[in-house]
Amino acid sequence: MRILVVGGAGYVGSAACAWLLDRGHEVWVLDDLSTGRRDLALGARLVIGRAGDRAVTDPLFASARFDGVMHFAARSLVAESVAKPELYRENNFEQTRSLLDAMLAHGVRRFVFSSTAAVFGDPGESDLTENAPKRPINPYGETKLAVERMLEELSKTRGLQAVALRYFNAAGAEDGLRVGECHEPETHLIPNVLRAAWEQREVTVFGDDYPTPDGTCVRDYVHVSDLARAHEAALSKLAALPEGAGFFRDYNLGSATGSTVLEIVRACERETGREIRVKRAARRAGDPPRLVADSRRATAELGFRNREDALGSIIRSAWAWERRRREPRPAVFLDRDGTINADPGYLRRAEQMNVLPGVPEALGRLQSAGYRLVVVSNQSGVGRGLIEADEIPRIHARLDELLRPAAAVIDRYELCFHRPEAGCPCRKPKPELLARAARELNLDLARSFMVGDKRTDVQAGRAAGCRASILVRTGAGLEAERELAPGEASLITDSLKDATDWILAQGT
Ligand code: UFG
Repeated sequence: MRILVVGGAGYVGSAACAWLLDRGHEVWVLDDLSTGRRDLALGARLVIGRAGDRAVTDPLFASARFDGVMHFAARSLVAESVAKPELYRENNFEQTRSLLDAMLAHGVRRFVFSSTAAVFGDPGESDLTENAPKRPINPYGETKLAVERMLEELSKTRGLQAVALRYFNAAGAEDGLRVGECHEPETHLIPNVLRAAWEQREVTVFGDDYPTPDGTCVRDYVHVSDLARAHEAALSKLAALPEGAGFFRDYNLGSATGSTVLEIVRACERETGREIRVKRAARRAGDPPRLVADSRRATAELGFRNREDALGSIIRSAWAWERRRREPRPAVFLDRDGTINADPGYLRRAEQMNVLPGVPEALGRLQSAGYRLVVVSNQSGVGRGLIEADEIPRIHARLDELLRPAAAVIDRYELCFHRPEAGCPCRKPKPELLARAARELNLDLARSFMVGDKRTDVQAGRAAGCRASILVRTGAGLEAERELAPGEASLITDSLKDATDWILAQGT
């Protein structure tokens, strides 16, 4: 199927992308990258924009015939929703309404929605079926319930075919360890416990006077890849419906096994072999004592099931992800114009982006060898009013598109809207761009390379502490070669392909 994953650069959305891509679906991601990260969208086609921006969604739905939409994009912090209810209403409800309008206007009818146990509020003792009363106790839960009701309504009035999947506590890292939790700040229990284990500090337990077996809150943890599988099953179910028949169904996705906060801490100790100290603190506002799902409907109708030893698998994968997340990775920093793109000058429009021969394959090889790919580019034309800032994402979307056949994905675009007239001291590109990308992506500069067609590229790589700086004789490279001081570049070579051969020959 051709599937649009809205919010596919976030935690659960990217796990869904990984699942769907591995099963041969054609995946497109729409994400505004407000909390998501472009590298988490993996090899999906990435469109940067808001779910409710008709200037983005109308052309998108007009250009590609999607078999269905999965909608993960939302803000999801209970405390933040209490502090900023309007933000939640606008982002979670209004944006979704506009997305639905756009898709229906273009004849796309299948919709799988990420909902939440928070729609139930504080439900008391029993395991929650879909029929349990829905009385959210915070704006987050309210906005999700409002969307569910809108879906039901649209299924009756406009032929929408929708499923709402209510996750209980999504946890763990995706099976291939390409995707895991990396919220900043992190508020969720399992990553917080594992970070405490790693850093050998205490984890805070919020509230130990709840009416539960050990006084701490009971939650129902579900592996994020089991959730991903449920999304595929939900869309397949919708695809089997008769054309034009409106449909809405809700499912609770949990494991029917509740764990207290302290049980989670102990399980993390077992899995990591580390002692984890606990600091007890007051209750966190808005936490219900117990949220456990009865998922029998999802099991019967979607074939939903939790993997064997689900909690162990969640913690082991989250721990492996935590380790991987902390390992600094090498990168290849790339100048854009003249190195990747044929034209060394200002690009004003996306159509001017044309990769040099051999570039996609070279970048694909670097990525397969474990290098992150970071484009560092000063965009002084924006500062000078020569290029519309809005055109930059389009230029990069086109570059992403041109690299896709070689399975190369730029992990990050690090830009500075450099403006010499305003006294910006940076040269092109400034070494701070490399340093910032290194911080954000946890890169090991001493194992990284800079490749560019200008002397300033070479200088930036050196100043940032890269292992080597390479000048390519494409773009402005021939003139730059004459300006270089002896030994300033580690290598001068004809193309990015030759630079790649050399980098790979150095070994990591
Ligand atoms: N907790 C701690 N210490 C921490 C973090 C969490 O004691 O450092 C406790 C919480 O107080 C809570 C439990 O661990 O009792 C689980 O907390 P999480 O933040 O991991 O998850 P929540 O159950 O609060 O939140 C999840 C989803 C929300 C959703 C909510 C429904 O992440 O999106 O379930 O109530 F709204």
